[in-house]
Amino acid sequence: MIMKMDLSGEENNFENKDLTANNIHFCNYKELGRLLNGKYKPGSNDFILTDSNTHRYCLPVIDELFPELRTEQVVTILAGEQNKNAENLEFIWKTLLAGGAGRNSRLYCLGGGMVTDIGGFAAATFMRGIRFIHIPTSLIGMADASVGGKTAINLNGAKNVAGAFALPEAVLSCPVFLDTLPNDEFLSGFGEIVKISLVTGAAFWDKVRRTSVANLTGKRNDELAILISQAIKAKASIAFQDLKDTGVRQRLNFGHTIGHAMEELAFKKGNPVKHGFAVASGMICESYLSMKQAGLAADAHQTIESYLKENFPLIKLTTEDIPMVMSNLFHDKKKIEGNNRFSLLKSPGHCMHGIEINDSLIEESLQEYLHIHR
Ligand SMILES: NC(=O)c1ccc[n+]([C@@H]2O[C@H](COP(=O)([O-])OP(=O)(O)OC[C@H]3O[C@@H](n4cnc5c(N)ncnc54)[C@H](O)[C@@H]3O)[C@@H](O)[C@H]2O)c1
Repeated sequence: MIMKMDLSGEENNFENKDLTANNIHFCNYKELGRLLNGKYKPGSNDFILTDSNTHRYCLPVIDELFPELRTEQVVTILAGEQNKNAENLEFIWKTLLAGGAGRNSRLYCLGGGMVTDIGGFAAATFMRGIRFIHIPTSLIGMADASVGGKTAINLNGAKNVAGAFALPEAVLSCPVFLDTLPNDEFLSGFGEIVKISLVTGAAFWDKVRRTSVANLTGKRNDELAILISQAIKAKASIAFQDLKDTGVRQRLNFGHTIGHAMEELAFKKGNPVKHGFAVASGMICESYLSMKQAGLAADAHQTIESYLKENFPLIKLTTEDIPMVMSNLFHDKKKIEGNNRFSLLKSPGHCMHGIEINDSLIEESLQEYLHIHR
């Protein structure tokens, strides 16, 4: 248990009109109950997808708010990124079919980014597309994965190879679920909030960097709820400008190009790391690239590097690992005509996308990184 926000009362409702216009509700427990018994009330032919953890920890919250939900309406897959796969996609389709789901059914996806990604994809493709509602339960789920309509599964360990752009009918985000989220998952999720702040707003980044992540965990915390709602708003504003990810949305990839290559390295070495920790490590390298190629001031780079180093467990790299990281980058989806394309910071809060960087500079950023995490 990491934090206990008092969200049971009337106070502390973080509803925001800009978000509700896009059917994204960031709300307290009471409001979640109202939505689940009103506009987004599950019908008898609707289904709810959970993973094994959210079934245990989050479904009871839904049951309490909406006791009419029947066991047969719950579809559960095993937790973990490795289960965001084609077998489980088929399992979800088959369970919906066997349960009598039809074109008018809705799928409620109750979980972190793994559940919202695979559940969204299952719904977007079942009977050529049924409605779905995300109820994110992890920090990444709330601040990032449930917003913007990207759905996907992995293929042979390669991330998000098959998927669809499909918007949920609504997102019902309630911080009460974070009560049971393990600390390392919380911290990993906070890595994405740091990224969203760096990409979208200087004032937001200023607020984030004055936040000690350790102080946010383990206590009732309105400060956190405000940061999450700001991250949702920033993510939504950039994603809704470019739903198909052909332009400005690519800025959200800051830290992810090298971060994914490091994540893949750790996976291949049999020592998988949390996504947000890989992104934090990737942001250090890409902040260095920003300083070299995008005009980021040296002191701004230093501030970013120090903050990430102090607050996140960085991925350990050795000189021998660098060729493998480079080779992982070779497969990156964003690579065009030989050079990797990056989203880099001109200044904190001001990001540019599509910047070509040659391999020798990428290697230099990795060499620099070796000195930092020691
Ligand atoms: N679609 C997008 O735009 C987008 C954006 C970012 C990330 N993602 C995807 O999101 C996934 C990562 O998200 P994640 O970190 O939420 O992963 P996750 O869903 O695997 O959740 C992490 C772990 O926390 C558990 N968990 C979730 N909520 C809990 C709760 N309230 N209490 C107890 N345990 C809980 C899960 O069961 C899992 O074990 C990746 O698959 C990534 O590709 C998608």
